[in-house]
This record gives sequence, C-alpha cells and structure tokens, in this order.
Amino acid sequence: MATTRNDEGTAPELSLPTSASFYQETGSRLSQRAARFRQWRNRKIASPGFRNWVMRIPGLRAIANRKAAALFRLTAGFVFSQVLSACVRLGVFEQLEKGARSAEQLAATCGLSPEKMQLLLEQAERLELVTQVGPDSWMLDDAGAVVAADRGITQMILHHEMLYRDLDAPETLLKDPESDTHLKSFWAYARGRHTLQLDQDTAQKYSTLMQSSQSMLADCILDAHDFGTYGSILDVGGGNGGFLTACAERHPNLRLHLFDLPAVAALARQNLAAMGLGSKVEVHGGDFISTPVPDNADCACLVRILCDHDDDRVRDILKNLHASLKPGTKLMVAEAMSGPSEGARLAAVYFSFYFLAMGSGRCRSDEEIKSLLAEAGFRRPHTVKTYNPLLATLVFAER
Ligand SMILES: C[S@@+](CC[C@H](N)C(=O)[O-])C[C@H]1O[C@@H](n2cnc3c(N)ncnc32)[C@H](O)[C@@H]1O
Repeated sequence: MATTRNDEGTAPELSLPTSASFYQETGSRLSQRAARFRQWRNRKIASPGFRNWVMRIPGLRAIANRKAAALFRLTAGFVFSQVLSACVRLGVFEQLEKGARSAEQLAATCGLSPEKMQLLLEQAERLELVTQVGPDSWMLDDAGAVVAADRGITQMILHHEMLYRDLDAPETLLKDPESDTHLKSFWAYARGRHTLQLDQDTAQKYSTLMQSSQSMLADCILDAHDFGTYGSILDVGGGNGGFLTACAERHPNLRLHLFDLPAVAALARQNLAAMGLGSKVEVHGGDFISTPVPDNADCACLVRILCDHDDDRVRDILKNLHASLKPGTKLMVAEAMSGPSEGARLAAVYFSFYFLAMGSGRCRSDEEIKSLLAEAGFRRPHTVKTYNPLLATLVFAER
C-alpha cells in the first residue's frame, strides 16, 4: 500500500493495490501462518504436561477451567436436557408455579418416590431451574419460571423427544440424509410432499405446535417493526393464525389476510372464528409455489417459512410471490438467522441439525436471504434486528 499526491498536489491519498492476486497471495500467506500457529497451539493444548503446567498458573488456570467446563457442558448436554425434560413431563414446574412445595408433596403429585424426587430437584437446582428456599421447600428459579409460564417452550421440550430419536445416530443421518425420520413425517409438507392433499390430522399436529410457540416470536417481531403503518398485511404460510392474532391485538385497525395449504387454512378459519377474529381475517387456501397469493396487502410476511426449504424451493416461493404481489408491496422474512451473536450462533447449530432431521431447509444468514430476495427481483433488501436473535432476525424488501 502506498501514499500518493492527488491532482491538486494537496492531501495525500491512499493508493491501494488493485490486483486480485495481491490479495489472494497475502490472504493465503496469512492463512498459512494462522494454520501453523493453530497447529502449534493445538499440539500444546493436547499435551497433558502443558495442561498441568497451565493449571499451576492462577490467571491461566481460570481460562483453562472455563474451557474445561464448556467442553463438559457439550459432552453432558443430553443429560442436562433430560433433567429439564423430566421436570416438564412429570409436571414439576406446573406444581411449583402454584407456589413453594416440599420434595414429599411434589413426589406424591408427580408419582415418584421422595428419594428420586429429591435427586431430580437437586439436579434441577444445579441447572438453575428450581431453587431451594427452605430446609424442604422448593420454588421455581428464573429459567423454570419461564418454562412454566410459556406453553410454547413446554411444547417444544416435549416435541424434542421426536428430534432426539432422529438424532440418535447423527453420523448415519449425515451419511444418509434421505433416510426416514420422525420429523419428516411430522412436517409432511417439507420438500413439497403431500402439500395440497395434506390431511387435517397431520396439519393439526404441526399447526398446534407452531401456534403454541408463536406468542414470544410475534412480540419480538412486532416490537422490531411498526406494522401500524400498513392498511393490511398478508401472512403467507400463516398456520393457525397465531401471528395475525398478535398483529390484531397490537394494531386493531389492520386488515388481515392469511394464506396456507387448504388443510391448514380450514383450521385457521375455525381457530380465528373461535378467537372472535373470523370477520377480520380473510383466509385463502393454496400452494405458495403454484397458487397466486392475494395481491391486495401492503406487506406480505413469511414467518418461519424460508428456513423450512432448500434453496431451489425458496427460489420458487419467492418467484411466485414476486409474480403475485403488486409493485410497492413490502415483504418481510422473519426467522432465526445465523450470525455472530451468541443467540444467532446457538440457533444456527440447533436449526442446522433440526433441518437435517426434517430433510429440508437450512438456517441462513440475513445476507443469504437478502441475496435470494434480490435474485427473485425484490428491491432494497435490508436487515432489521430484533431484541432476540435466538428467535428471529427480520429482512425486509420491496416488490
Ligand atoms: C413452520 S410453519 C410456520 C407457520 C407460521 N408462519 C408460524 O410461524 O407459526 C410453516 C407453514 O407453512 C405452510 N406451508 C408449507 N408448505 C406450504 C405450501 N406449499 N403452500 C402454502 N403453505 C405452506 C405450512 O402449512 C405451515 O403452516
């Protein structure tokens, strides 16, 4: 890099080398150096003698212990989630939500011996799910209080039984992603299977799960973007109408449209009528790849839709939306996206393996979503962050 005088002969400006090979060579030299350093460092860490030496130095000991605990958390993670699962399945949180209980009272209501209830409570306390407030008096800790109060989290914990069975041999799933899994049957629409013929029972099962996990997500989306500026919105793949119900509560003047597969649209009509929103929401049944979606909304929403599908199907969905929507319509994509924050990294690991078991979809970054939107012809794609990237990041664009 050199500094040169500009035409006026005044302030110096930076003249950057333009040749691509300069950057490639420098980049590859840097990465070779980084790889050599990493190799040296890994050899050191792998040596028991070095690790013992580190443990004798107070500052380094703290770092080493933090890393050891993180590795143990990874190794034992399944056991920790099974403690959580046992508390949910036995109804421990449900009981403690009512107030403090003794181990014996909990044992009687949850059907365990007092000794095994004590064992469970002690582990749940170590995981900060419950807390002991007296000699034999237990209450919910913060995380337990959230799980007890949120039906969506409880339902997802119960649903994980299916995911964990599918991930029983992850190497097999990675080698043979076409093999049958429970999640492939549960999400029967994935990869365009049975879409228009999807039966009511299958639609009901996944739509109920989606609806129960919608309230936290809807709040997160509605806090990040003001939908009150629109006259009407269309929720594409809107399920049972959970997101539109939250929109109606927040912005009572919004006119609402929902589009989903015919079997789900029928459920949404019943559900919205039961919520007193029957006359407020127009429900349309069809396939978002081949049926034109209504073109009379100011903003079309795709909440947890694109992530379910591989790139080729995402292109087809966006192509159909681009052909259907009138120019000027806003489009919002809301889902968990990969990114540098801790929440986004955790979500990306989780969803990447979830979609592997489901047989389609992937957790994309906002940049990848913006580029798919631009490729489909949508203008000005841009990211809007939410307060919780574990739940969703938003990408907006314009037809
Ligand atoms: C993961 S769920 C998300 C539901 C809702 N947006 C939410 O976040 O709760 C995906 C939704 O897309 C719908 N869907 C899947 N394939 C579809 C298709 N080809 N046409 C229309 N809707 C479809 C499903 O029926 C389901 O309601």
